[in-house]
Amino acid sequence: MKDTHSRGWALITGAGRGLGRALALRASSAGYHTLLCSRDPDSLKELARACRKEDGLQSLALPVDLATPNGAEILLQECRRRRIHPTLLINNAGMGSAGPFLDSDEIRNSELLQLNTHSLVVLCRGFLPAMLADGKGGILNVASTAAFAPGPGSSLYYASKAFVLSFSLALAEEQRGNGLRICCLCPGPMRTAFREAAGSAPLSGARLRLLQDVDKVADIAWRGLEKGQSLIIPGRRNRWLLRASRLLSPVRLARFTREGLPRP
Ligand SMILES: NC(=O)c1ccc[n+]([C@@H]2O[C@H](COP(=O)([O-])OP(=O)(O)OC[C@H]3O[C@@H](n4cnc5c(N)ncnc54)[C@H](OP(=O)(O)O)[C@@H]3O)[C@@H](O)[C@H]2O)c1
Repeated sequence: MKDTHSRGWALITGAGRGLGRALALRASSAGYHTLLCSRDPDSLKELARACRKEDGLQSLALPVDLATPNGAEILLQECRRRRIHPTLLINNAGMGSAGPFLDSDEIRNSELLQLNTHSLVVLCRGFLPAMLADGKGGILNVASTAAFAPGPGSSLYYASKAFVLSFSLALAEEQRGNGLRICCLCPGPMRTAFREAAGSAPLSGARLRLLQDVDKVADIAWRGLEKGQSLIIPGRRNRWLLRASRLLSPVRLARFTREGLPRP
């Protein structure tokens, strides 16, 4: 196996489809071996074959359910067993919530918190020490523009992304000057199966046209990661909306979100 141009291993969670798949292909074309994680083994195996098309690069499918309490630990142990220390960790896997909190299912709520927040923390804690010892590496945590507002009708999801944003920016500051790139990506609504998986009603009309393309978002994320930008918000419209939202108090922002912003 040639390894002349590899930049090390990139671990991508939620790699089976959507943004994770686009980021995995981007990592592969940038010269990383790829560790691909999500639940469906078939989509991962197909993606691994595509990633291996890059000359001399390895790609492994690691099907793990990160919404279970020990999912992230299983992934860490699997990497240790294979003696793989990722130099790039992309915490992309996430799930949404739809509907009023009191109508929500308790098991699904726990899975959302586990997947969107706890597993992400466990993976950062598990992989950071080796990156630090090497003096190089990067973490890209995927939050959302939802991180910037309370989200009535999707309260747990918005709150989980606020956690990811706050945690990632704090971690980036703690590690500033250590040679690591810790970035938080906050996309707006994208054209993926995410809403469908969350049980949200399909979009139509102008809202459908405003959805961002995952390949474009992955390109912007990748450029931000290479530059070591701690906060990456793809799209002028999203950046403008966030600036405008700062003019409102959190209470008014919650009302505004309820009354019809497109839900990321
Ligand atoms: N789409 C949007 O509008 C939007 C906007 C802002 C932010 N985001 C964020 O962007 C990230 C990617 O979203 P996406 O739109 O690409 O979603 P997506 O199309 O639904 O893909 C989600 C990925 O996560 C994997 N996944 C789901 N549950 C998992 C679990 N329990 N364990 C391991 N992997 C799991 C899925 O594969 P399996 O089902 O096979 O496990 C899939 O590969 C998420 O963090 C999301 O919150 C999305």
